[in-house]
Amino acid sequence: ASAEKGGFSSFMEKEIHDQPDAVAQTLLGRSDLNGKLTLDELRIDPALLKQVDKIIVLACGTAAYAGMVAKYAIENWCRIPTEVELAHEFRYRDPIVDANTLVVSISQSGETMDTLMAVRYAREQGAKTISICNTNGSTIPRESDAVLYTHAGPEIAVASTKAFLAQITAAYLLGLYLAQLRGNIFSGQIKDVLADLGKIPAKIQKILDNAGPLRELARSMKDEKSVLFLGRHVGFPVALEGALKLKEIAYIHAEGFAAGELKHGPIALIDEGQPVFVVVPSPRGRDSLHSKVVSNIQEVRARGARTLVIAEEGDESVRDYAEHVFYVPETPTLLMPLLTTVPLQIFAAELAGAKGYDVDQPRNLAKSVTVE
Ligand code: G6P
Repeated sequence: ASAEKGGFSSFMEKEIHDQPDAVAQTLLGRSDLNGKLTLDELRIDPALLKQVDKIIVLACGTAAYAGMVAKYAIENWCRIPTEVELAHEFRYRDPIVDANTLVVSISQSGETMDTLMAVRYAREQGAKTISICNTNGSTIPRESDAVLYTHAGPEIAVASTKAFLAQITAAYLLGLYLAQLRGNIFSGQIKDVLADLGKIPAKIQKILDNAGPLRELARSMKDEKSVLFLGRHVGFPVALEGALKLKEIAYIHAEGFAAGELKHGPIALIDEGQPVFVVVPSPRGRDSLHSKVVSNIQEVRARGARTLVIAEEGDESVRDYAEHVFYVPETPTLLMPLLTTVPLQIFAAELAGAKGYDVDQPRNLAKSVTVE
């Protein structure tokens, strides 16, 4: 078994380290040298995709957070209204779905019953269905109109890591493809995003190679009772995923919040010594989101929180307010989740390992939930 783990202490650690390759494999062969998306495998009539006036992303668990990231990118690039919904909530509320609705399901296993039932329902209502899936020939892709496979390789650990990054990558490709098809953005812009995506694997590797201080912090925090995560824009789903990882494998109470929501409630939770991870947007991004999130760091710190900050390399503005800063390389804002997620995965895996837990087989959880 230790050989299968490639020398790592767990499959989860191995899969965290597989991520540069998982992203690279998911990108491979899907664009040409001119920066044009070539998703030939997506066997769905382009004319139908051009008519789409609404996208609904359906998924559960970690895959649903990939869906939240997808929404920001798809709406930005395609200008198509995009909703993200937990698959098990979807069909019980009489959703508005018709032939111009594109339903994108995201599932690592392709066997999650909640997601499958939602896709079936959407199809019955006449929606077009595309599956983003990591498992060849599994049920959800078979029951969808088309599939865009993630090529993360088999994921063994129950808590999803490399499949998540591959799902986000595939969703970006789908968003760019739709934008290309519909003429929403300039081909030069698509080419630029593809070039930035191409640089992601090496940047993930850099985060992995420099994780020593983060691992040390994680081990020192093994007796924490609660950890909070704040993020904004695409950093919000990253915060949710950071919290989910900690719940899943370290059994620590953890919550992710939209940073802007802090003042509307969660700030009441902050007292002396409460650890708070903050995922900080790039200072180069628009809309002054960066300064707003930096203010959030100051607010929780003023109330006694321990501030653990994930920020972009070169962002010195956070240093004065952070107990620890973990830097990730620069990348355009929409792509940041492919980097900012990684430290949070490492943190959870290291902390759970320090507690002596089996990080690959957390209690009460199954890799794939094939019942409703
Ligand atoms: C289970 C797993 C989660 C996963 C979710 C969705 O609950 O424990 O890690 O995110 O299912 O799985 P899927 O295979 O549909 O991505």
